[in-house]
Amino acid sequence: MSDFIPVNEPLLGGNEKKYLLECIDTGWISSEGPFVKQFEELFAIRVDRSHGIAVANGSGALDIAVQALRLEPGDEVILPTFTIISCAASLVRAGVIPVLIDADPVTWNMNVEQVAERITVRTKAIMVVHIYGLPVDMDPIVELAHQHGLKVIEDAAEMHGQRYNGKPCGSFGDISTFSFYPNKHLTTGEGGMLVCDDPELAERCRSLRNLCFQTKKRFVHEELGWNYRMTNLQAALGLAQLERLDEFVLRKRAMGERYTALLKEIDLLQLPLERTDYAENIYWVYGLVLDDALTFDAEEAMNRFAANGVGTRPFFWPMHEQPVFKKMGLFAGESYPVAERLARRGFYIPSGMSLSELQAERVAGVVKKVLS
Ligand SMILES: Cc1ncc(COP(=O)(O)O)c(C=O)c1O
Repeated sequence: MSDFIPVNEPLLGGNEKKYLLECIDTGWISSEGPFVKQFEELFAIRVDRSHGIAVANGSGALDIAVQALRLEPGDEVILPTFTIISCAASLVRAGVIPVLIDADPVTWNMNVEQVAERITVRTKAIMVVHIYGLPVDMDPIVELAHQHGLKVIEDAAEMHGQRYNGKPCGSFGDISTFSFYPNKHLTTGEGGMLVCDDPELAERCRSLRNLCFQTKKRFVHEELGWNYRMTNLQAALGLAQLERLDEFVLRKRAMGERYTALLKEIDLLQLPLERTDYAENIYWVYGLVLDDALTFDAEEAMNRFAANGVGTRPFFWPMHEQPVFKKMGLFAGESYPVAERLARRGFYIPSGMSLSELQAERVAGVVKKVLS
């Protein structure tokens, strides 16, 4: 269907082509090229951090964060159950025990009030994940981490340009991570970044990203790393996108406000919260949650949207309900009712950077049709 409205389309109309051509003209296409360093430096400055380490994707950034912080088998890390599998996978692969927290029904972020009761003598870190457009309430997390001597890994994959009480998301973790997948506010096709302030930690992340090659004896390894390097081609895109980040945030906020104006009269539908005391939504995606009074679930709703030419994506499926983790014997008997409900009743509608006002209006029309 030619007038199908995809769930996401990036906007690449700035200096992307110019910088990519520069890569081709100069022959710098690998991770050794100059754009990588430039992108790392400018991105780190943008989030008020001293160091940026560009990587192949946001999932790899989390793998590196867990190992860089020397989390070990048997350590516990607290994280939300309502998130992408990359978060829990980075822990499970390292033998670290993921300890889950339910979601908040209004912000969809982790329920910060539940964190303290899950801290044990084995807890070593809290992995915070900002979900869909609003940041997690960071002050209580930072205070708990301080009180108990815990590290904070801040997964800011969805939060480019977002702020918590005026401070950039990505400035709160011992290590914070980002993704640059094309549905993000800033894309490099595939890509990610770790940011931190400690120079030794930054060096360790750089080494883990690059197979832990050594400077003196290159092919002699003291530790196992990954090849998670970002190419100069990706960084070229990233630089061009970073130049427009403020504009992208404004575009997405305008999209979110437009959708809310169009949809707020509809009963039986929960829309994203516009703001909290500490942040304005940046609408990474515009999520909808069906009221329990509706007889159909998110899956049926998404089928109906597809039949009307509108792309959607389901909400995250909770970690404690993942078959892969159940097979490993993880989370047996655990239940997190808010996340379970969000997974079954929630999905998001087209929220990409290229969405036009006309498309948003058409999508809103389909929402009304599908729900009636
Ligand atoms: C919260 C969160 N963390 C991590 C990731 C993983 O990033 P990537 O797709 O770049 O591996 C994503 C991807 O969307 C995400 O939303």
